[in-house]
Amino acid sequence: MSILRSAGILGTGHYAPEKILTNEDLEKIVDTNDEWIRTRTGIETRHIAADDENTSDLCVKAVEKALEAAHLTAQDIDFVIVATTSPDYIVPSTACMLQNKLGISHVGAMDLTAACSGYVYALAVASQMVKSGMYEHILIVGAEILSRLVNWKDRSTCILFGDGAGAAVVGPTDEGYGLLSSDLGADGSLGSILSIPAGGTAERITQESIDSGRAYVHMEGQEVFKAAVRHMGKTTVAALEKAGLSGKDVDMFIAHQANDRIIQAVAKRLKVPEDKMYVNVNRYGNTSAASVGIALDEAVRKGRIKRGDIVVLSAFGSGLTWGCDVLKWNY
Ligand SMILES: CC(C)(COP(=O)(O)OP(=O)(O)OC[C@H]1O[C@@H](n2cnc3c(N)ncnc32)[C@H](O)[C@@H]1OP(=O)(O)O)[C@@H](O)C(=O)NCCC(=O)NCCS
Repeated sequence: MSILRSAGILGTGHYAPEKILTNEDLEKIVDTNDEWIRTRTGIETRHIAADDENTSDLCVKAVEKALEAAHLTAQDIDFVIVATTSPDYIVPSTACMLQNKLGISHVGAMDLTAACSGYVYALAVASQMVKSGMYEHILIVGAEILSRLVNWKDRSTCILFGDGAGAAVVGPTDEGYGLLSSDLGADGSLGSILSIPAGGTAERITQESIDSGRAYVHMEGQEVFKAAVRHMGKTTVAALEKAGLSGKDVDMFIAHQANDRIIQAVAKRLKVPEDKMYVNVNRYGNTSAASVGIALDEAVRKGRIKRGDIVVLSAFGSGLTWGCDVLKWNY
């Protein structure tokens, strides 16, 4: 067992459900309009899971593509991490559902809850497990069906979110490549500005909590917006500094796809130009833990990332949580 070898992403994949919900479709559900949504958020469409699709089903489809890209099979995997806020069940974990569906029900599996920062957290955790020699090939998946947790009567939140999954295989890579640094942070004192108040042990689900909307996503939009810009900027600078880099060294910046205005504000702070960013929030909306994984996979498949590139993944979400991973791309 080698000590502190390099670890990186060996392959990526994503899946988005077939059904697409447009801003025009939303105009028929709540009092909103395409122009308001586009100018405030940059979102035009989002994907919505079918009734017979669960979060673990989205995971399976994203993982199949990631395994294929990594030239590996499920049998090569020795640990599974699923980052999600919309699990199939409270228990068992969605990671356990996934490993069973993949036919590898002998390997370790756990869910990780860091809301929209989940993929960035999961990559940092998995990379350390590979670097230490504990495991060889770890599956990480960010996956969400937030369409089942938003209040479809609340126009300020239901327009924002979408469903999907982004996956990666994390494994050993050439020395000096792969994950160079991570910065993970949180501030629980601000948990209430983006939360689902009822449904846990603190507040049980009752007919009243359903009727009042407390069983669904609650958000103080402007507070979340300001915190997102501040913390995503700071965590990205901190992670880059740990790697001895700065904004000018970045070849590809992938921020959590929550809102185009947040992404542009953070990129401006970091002085990362438009052609070194990947943005797809217009097509997916905010897919929470899945968003960075989906965007990364699209950027890779479109040939926007090549070996040696400095790739920066940065996210922010409920908790509050935030985090950034800096990679020297290894393939
Ligand atoms: C949600 C967000 C788009 C709202 O934009 P905003 O400019 O802050 O808008 P406000 O909340 O101040 O609302 C302005 C007005 O638009 C209205 N409005 C809210 N949602 C609307 C919608 N979907 N369509 C039309 N009008 C809407 C409000 O009711 C308010 O009306 P009023 O002035 O008559 O009271 C913005 O705050 C945001 O993006 N926040 C961050 C959200 C986020 O990314 N969360 C996830 C982080 S992981």
